[in-house]
Amino acid sequence: MMQVQEHIPVMLPQVLEALQPKDGEIYVDATFGAGGYSRAILESAECRVYAIDRDPNASLLADALARDFPGRFLFLSGCFGDMLSILSAEGVGSIDGLVMDIGVSSMQIDQAERGFSFRQDGPLDMRMSQKGISASVLVNTLPEKELADLLYTYGEERASRKIAKAIVEARAETPIETTAQLAAIVRSVVRKTSDTDPATKTFQALRIQVNDELGELERALDQSPRLLREGGRLIVVTFHSLEDRIVKKFMRPSGHAASRHDMAALVQQQEEAGLHLFDLPTRKAVLANADEIRRNPRARSAKMRWAVRNTVPVAQAYEDIHD
Ligand SMILES: C[S@@+](CC[C@H](N)C(=O)[O-])C[C@H]1O[C@@H](n2cnc3c(N)ncnc32)[C@H](O)[C@@H]1O
Repeated sequence: MMQVQEHIPVMLPQVLEALQPKDGEIYVDATFGAGGYSRAILESAECRVYAIDRDPNASLLADALARDFPGRFLFLSGCFGDMLSILSAEGVGSIDGLVMDIGVSSMQIDQAERGFSFRQDGPLDMRMSQKGISASVLVNTLPEKELADLLYTYGEERASRKIAKAIVEARAETPIETTAQLAAIVRSVVRKTSDTDPATKTFQALRIQVNDELGELERALDQSPRLLREGGRLIVVTFHSLEDRIVKKFMRPSGHAASRHDMAALVQQQEEAGLHLFDLPTRKAVLANADEIRRNPRARSAKMRWAVRNTVPVAQAYEDIHD
C-alpha cells in the first residue's frame, strides 16, 4: 500500500495575505482537511476559527487543534453547502472571513480504501462523507447514455461514449467493484497521449457526481453574502475549470452562482439594480508560483480567487428564492 502523504496546504501565504487574520475576528475554514489553513490562521492572530469538513476522518485531526488553541477552534462535521444552518446552530451569524480549498485531500487520495485513486487498487467508493451512493453503484447501474453524459460533463472527457460503452460491456461480464478494474477498462479504450493517465477524467467525473461537488460549491457561495459582514473576505481555491468557472461567475458583479439554476431573472434584476454584493481586489485568479509547484505538484492546477463583501444588502428577491 502506498504511504499516506501529509497534506501540504496549497497557496497558504496567498490565502493569509487575502484573509489578513486579526485578533478578535471570526473565520470559517469550510474545508478543514488536515487543518493546514485553520492552524495557520489561528497562529496568525488571536482569532476564532470554525472549521467544517464532511469527512468523518477529519475530526480526528481537528482534536489536536482544539487542544492547541483552547476556546478558539471548533470543528463542525457536515457539508459546506449547509454552512448557514451548521453555523447558526452554533450561534454564528456574522463572520469576518470564509476560506474554501475545494476538492480532495492528499489523505483521501492516498488511502486506497477510500477509492479515489486510479494509481492504487481499492473499492470503487469515492464518498467523502462515507455515506450515500458510491462510485461503484453509479458505474454498475447507470444507463450507458447517462454514464457517457456524466463523463462528458463532469470529466470534460471527449472519449466519453467509447468509455461508457466499454464499461457497460465489462459490467455485463462481472460487476466493476474496484478502482483498478475501472482504470483498466478506461485504459483499454483510451490511448495514453500525455503524462496524464487516461483514467484521470473518468475518475474526476465520478467523484464530482458522487459528492455533488458543484452543487455543494454553488450552495456555499450562495450563502456566503449572508454570513460575511461588510468588509468580510471570501477566498476560494479550486483545482479544475468547472469549479473555477462557478467561482468566477459568482464573484463577478452580479454576485450569484446561478449557473445551474433558473435564476436568470433574479440575476438580471440584481444587475439592473446595481447590486454588486462583492468587490474584487483583483479580477485575475491567483496562481501558485513555480517554487511551490516544484515542492507540491498538487498546486499546479490550483486557482485562488477572492472577493470582499461590500455594503449592498442581499436583495430581497434573493432572500425569497433561498428561504
Ligand atoms: C483540499 S482538502 C483541504 C485541505 C486544507 N485546506 C488543509 O490545508 O489541510 C479539501 C477538504 O474538503 C472536504 N470537503 C470537500 N467537499 C466538502 C463539502 N461539500 N463539505 C464539507 N467538506 C468538504 C474534503 O473532505 C477535504 O477534507
